[in-house]
Amino acid sequence: MADKHVVRFEPVGIEIEVDEDQTILRAAAEQGIMLMHGCKEGQCSSCKSFVLDGDDIDLDKYSTFALPDYEKEEGFTLLCRAHAYEDLTIELLNYDEEMIRSGLPIQEAAAEVVSNEPVTHDMRHLVLRLVEPTEIKFFPGQYVDIKVPGTDETRSFSMANTSSRDGGLLEFVIKVYPDGLFSHLLDNQLKVGDRLELTGPFGVFTLREGLETDLIFVGGGAGMAPILALLRSMAERGLQRKATFFYGARGSADLCFEKELRGLEEKLPGFKYVPALSEPADGDGWEGETGLITDVVKRLAGGLKGAHAYVCGPPPMVEAAMPVLATAGVEEKRIYYDKFTTTADPQQ
Ligand SMILES: Cc1cc2nc3c(=O)[nH]c(=O)nc-3n(C[C@H](O)[C@H](O)[C@H](O)COP(=O)(O)OP(=O)(O)OC[C@H]3O[C@@H](n4cnc5c(N)ncnc54)[C@H](O)[C@@H]3O)c2cc1C
Ligand code: FES
Repeated sequence: MADKHVVRFEPVGIEIEVDEDQTILRAAAEQGIMLMHGCKEGQCSSCKSFVLDGDDIDLDKYSTFALPDYEKEEGFTLLCRAHAYEDLTIELLNYDEEMIRSGLPIQEAAAEVVSNEPVTHDMRHLVLRLVEPTEIKFFPGQYVDIKVPGTDETRSFSMANTSSRDGGLLEFVIKVYPDGLFSHLLDNQLKVGDRLELTGPFGVFTLREGLETDLIFVGGGAGMAPILALLRSMAERGLQRKATFFYGARGSADLCFEKELRGLEEKLPGFKYVPALSEPADGDGWEGETGLITDVVKRLAGGLKGAHAYVCGPPPMVEAAMPVLATAGVEEKRIYYDKFTTTADPQQ
């Protein structure tokens, strides 16, 4: 078995033990410490931190886009790629005090396909039932890593449901890429009863509780999944916070869960659903909002001082939404996001 070392995180004063053969981020997740992260593959820089003490660290393959050489030399590291070979003290640059200690330890599980149906022409609604263990607790908005059958690769997918409502079930909304390793298989092969292995829960795209602040959700494509989970959770608990969900799609054929979202407007008095089409077709008969979702937010959201924002979808949409929300008054640290990075996103 590999040696273990102690890694201390500042300024929060949390210590964990890390095996040499696991990354620091992974060890923290296994011990229920929810550190900021995104891709877990050294591409997005969300987990970038500063090494205050110790230097015997090895990094798995990463993108110099996420950690340029000069930053590495200054002492920065990527926790999702870093292996500790001595005791270390790490300064977290990007952390959320409310979330860090509220993590649920990750588990490995086997699950069975309950259904796998299209929800649009290029998105599928996959429902799994956990077999071993039969339940995993997760916070609405979190995700799991699913192993691509027959490979050593994993892909991350956000749950669209809540664990309180559907104990043992995991529901996903997954975009199909024509050559996508997992999504192609999902579209063509995966059938009811098939088994999948997964690990989780991961992620910090979860509702900060105990507050009355307004909420703004901005989603595109499969970014629907974790936002739907957050909204479903609010409905289950009768939360009355004022909330608006701006959802961007190309044409009306790309919209999904419309009926449920309209139903949520009835259940949640402060909630409004605003879908917008960027390329409505002539035959769409669309009378709703049009344009890029970020432009629609700019036009309609008004002053957002004090609000909390949740943004999820393809990386360019998330990046375009951040300055729009900041300009409208959302504090930068109150913009929570999950970028659905894929293997096609920039690597160097
Ligand atoms: C935190 C997180 C949560 C996520 N949640 C969801 C979710 O809920 N739903 C969802 O649909 N997705 C989600 N994703 C994205 C998901 O994990 C996968 O990346 C995505 O589904 C693509 O996987 P794939 O195996 O189907 O395609 P991949 O095989 O990864 O390929 C994706 C696309 O990129 C192209 N491609 C691959 N490699 C290259 C290359 N080198 N150069 C150019 N093009 C290339 C492929 O042809 C294909 O079109 C999430 C990602 C993250 C990080
Ligand atoms: S989570 Fe470490 S670089 Fe993306």
